[in-house]
Amino acid sequence: MIDTKVINTNSQDLALAAKLLQDGELVAIPTETVYGLAANALDSNAVSKIFKAKGRPSDNPLIVHIGSLEQLPSLIHNISSSAKTLIQHFWPGPLTLVFRSSQKVPNIVNAGLTTVAIRYPKHPITTAIINLSGVPLAAPSANISGRPSPTNAKRVFEDLSGRIPLIVDGGSGSVGLESTVVDVTGTIPIILRPGKITQSMMERYVGRVDIDKGILQNNNPKSPGMKYAHYCPNATVYIVEGRNEDVIQTIDNLIDSPENKNKKIGVMATDESLNKYNPKAEVISVGSRLNLDTVAHSLFETLRTFDDLGVDIIYSESFPQGKQSDIRTAIMNRLMKAANHNVINA
Ligand code: TXA
Ligand code: MG
Repeated sequence: MIDTKVINTNSQDLALAAKLLQDGELVAIPTETVYGLAANALDSNAVSKIFKAKGRPSDNPLIVHIGSLEQLPSLIHNISSSAKTLIQHFWPGPLTLVFRSSQKVPNIVNAGLTTVAIRYPKHPITTAIINLSGVPLAAPSANISGRPSPTNAKRVFEDLSGRIPLIVDGGSGSVGLESTVVDVTGTIPIILRPGKITQSMMERYVGRVDIDKGILQNNNPKSPGMKYAHYCPNATVYIVEGRNEDVIQTIDNLIDSPENKNKKIGVMATDESLNKYNPKAEVISVGSRLNLDTVAHSLFETLRTFDDLGVDIIYSESFPQGKQSDIRTAIMNRLMKAANHNVINA
């Protein structure tokens, strides 16, 4: 067991984080999306510790985080014109781009693929740590593999204390869901994982952007990480779909159903519906339907809060996609995985 220290973001503490990273150790760091578990991306031995600490399958590649554009050229081979445009408009930010990898990136980082995923985060603490350490940082989300991603230092500690030496507490990130991952190795960018930067936001600048059909249908996705069970709280999650009134009625019936008699039930509601459910259940709002960014921000934390309460079953409202492509694609992608695709029609 390693003694896990939690530190702040003053300059002395950040210098300590950078020193540990230079020495080949792991440090959990805040970003604007979720917390990352970082190691020197150019040090295979350091990166191998990430897989061990998380219990992550070795065929799931890691994102390399850079702190300035100057770090990019040595990590990749050729860059398409659409990639250049996306960089210009969305970096630094919650967008990861998949390029052809240079020889400099160790195999363990990209799990033997010929490509490498790169992100230039916007969070000032993340870039400060990268630039103080002087190396690009490989960093997956800082959770035990399969669990909901952590959006604050307390949740990182819950999963990884005893496994890593240091956590930098930088408060809770603004986005709450992991970055959008986009393959830019071809002429048309392809979204491999939906996120805050949406298809329509990118199409405004680069014309056509495709979305990997596999992620929407849960069928043979292009990105290795998308095939794994993910974001799962201890409770069994069901998504209840239908008109708002029908969803509330159906969930209330389920709360009272004989088969749930000895079960502790959680309801993932929204600000608009919070007071309408049977109060026998643990009812929590995940955010407001009038501002879906609040739902993205709180989704993982709310799933973990239900675990704190020890519920057996979570019934969640749904956030179905309309015609427009927006943050709902990312919210439903994570929620469907948390629910193992269990959907109840109201
Ligand atoms: O917001 C984020 O992206 C956070 C923060 C810490 O930056 N990181 C994150 O990392 O979510 P992780 O490891 O939990 O998810 C990385 C995803 C996985 O689905 C992985 O399979 C995919 O990116 N990925 C990484 N390298 C890839 C590659 N070369 N080709 C395709 N997919 C790749
Ligand atoms: Mg992850």
